[in-house]
Amino acid sequence: MERILSFDATEVSRCQLCHDAPCSKACPQRAPVADIVRSLYFENYTGAAQALERVDCLGCAAPCESACLLTGAKDAVEIRRIFTEFEQTKDTLPAHRIDEVDLACNLCGIHLDNPFLLSSSVVSSTYDQLARAFEAGWAGASFKTVCNFPQHEASPRFSAVNSRGHAFYGFKNIEQLSDHTVEENLSVFRRLRDDYPSKVIVASIMGRNADEWTRLAERCEQAGASAIECNFSCPNMEDEDLGLTIGQSPELVERFTSAVKRGTSLPVLAKLTPNVGDMIPAALAARSGGADGISAINTINSITGVDIDSLVAEPPVQGKSMVGGYSGPAVKPIALRFISEMGRCEGLAGAHISGIGGIETWRDALEFLLLGAGSVQVTTAVMQYGYRIIDDLIGGLAEYLRCKGISSVEFLVGAAATSVVDHTQVERDIVQLPVFDRELCNGCGRCYLSCQDGGHQAIRIDEESRMPKLDAKRCVGCHLCKLVCPEGAIGVAAKAFLR
Ligand SMILES: Cc1cc2nc3c(=O)[nH]c(=O)nc-3n(C[C@H](O)[C@H](O)[C@H](O)COP(=O)(O)O)c2cc1C
Repeated sequence: MERILSFDATEVSRCQLCHDAPCSKACPQRAPVADIVRSLYFENYTGAAQALERVDCLGCAAPCESACLLTGAKDAVEIRRIFTEFEQTKDTLPAHRIDEVDLACNLCGIHLDNPFLLSSSVVSSTYDQLARAFEAGWAGASFKTVCNFPQHEASPRFSAVNSRGHAFYGFKNIEQLSDHTVEENLSVFRRLRDDYPSKVIVASIMGRNADEWTRLAERCEQAGASAIECNFSCPNMEDEDLGLTIGQSPELVERFTSAVKRGTSLPVLAKLTPNVGDMIPAALAARSGGADGISAINTINSITGVDIDSLVAEPPVQGKSMVGGYSGPAVKPIALRFISEMGRCEGLAGAHISGIGGIETWRDALEFLLLGAGSVQVTTAVMQYGYRIIDDLIGGLAEYLRCKGISSVEFLVGAAATSVVDHTQVERDIVQLPVFDRELCNGCGRCYLSCQDGGHQAIRIDEESRMPKLDAKRCVGCHLCKLVCPEGAIGVAAKAFLR
């Protein structure tokens, strides 16, 4: 499933992924131009290839490009070139080994049509939002945290660290809980339960004391929730003993999980905070309190930056800011670490793990599943791109299964868990050297610079040809050169040797 396709991903990433995209409307062949570009953006290559089958770009004057909203101040996305290049290599997509695959999962005994849920946040706050999300294909949603006390929100409340042009790399929020009353939220649950009986409604709740936790769980069950998620992890609460203060104390986690279990017979998930050195004590405490599963991660305490003119940290709220929760692609590695540790913890065997943190593409989701998550939840990617990303999440994951010949997504859960071992168990005596592909190398010398200043001075550059040469005696096989190469021209030698 590696990158065997040729198309200009940088050009794809210039696309603004417009709503109601003019490029699609302009296509004389009525091709879903914007959907195809979006599928490429989210790495759903087969989805893109299938949609392109009915399109002939070669003889076309590309009115899609004239309609592109980037025309004018900036250049239009070169849609025809992207599609033509992709067309020429799409036959190298891996063949299907099976046709029928099942994406259905099981969340503590509850059927999920697929592993994808919205996570508790602003993306899952109202009936209309969830109705649209369910229609789009999301299997369920953890509803914006329901609580009995009023919220005092700041404005603005978000800041972002950008990567590919306008895309968030990391995202910070200082938002609190649901700004609707408990009664309003419960009536949403009732309507959703009636209108979408097959969808999973996870009621995220937060109480101020044991009685409130019990009562909220009881009321959410009566209103038709499928499961309860205890928010032991919001980093933005004003009062102590709420949110992440609970998640940082295994004793409080156990006490309030037990309180929730007293109020409901539904499955209970404890949503834990990554603002700890080790999540296992809180996870085990949740299990002792009766939790059926763990959701992780909530957001990470952060400051995304400081405005160097106003000298105020981001986001500025009337000249001040605060530490807030970080999410989006930047947090995925940290989330995966927690999922991996929980997936390998014997004391948590049998507990459902719902993986959250930086999921944008089907590959991200798959990585969570492979390390032990039985379902996944998403917020920041939906805040940025909308519910429509579910098409490529489902399409890409199903395609992976077909190509690998795996009939059910459930077989993937935990399949990579044992690949993560203790520091003492990693093989440290075998070295794998890099190899340079002279066809792909354009002589930029980035590998040389990195190896000189950040490595072991094992690369020389031939002055005439500008090609790198390896001194195998000096090379320690760290692969920094491979990681920095902008052309993907450095691979790994087939043969490894003993140090
Ligand atoms: C704006 C915003 C509001 C959030 N509100 C809640 C909330 O009310 N309850 C909760 O449990 N998590 C809340 N979260 C955390 C998300 O559910 C999720 O755990 C986190 O954002 C990481 O996932 P992501 O990288 O897909 O966004 C919120 C996140 C954001 C960005």
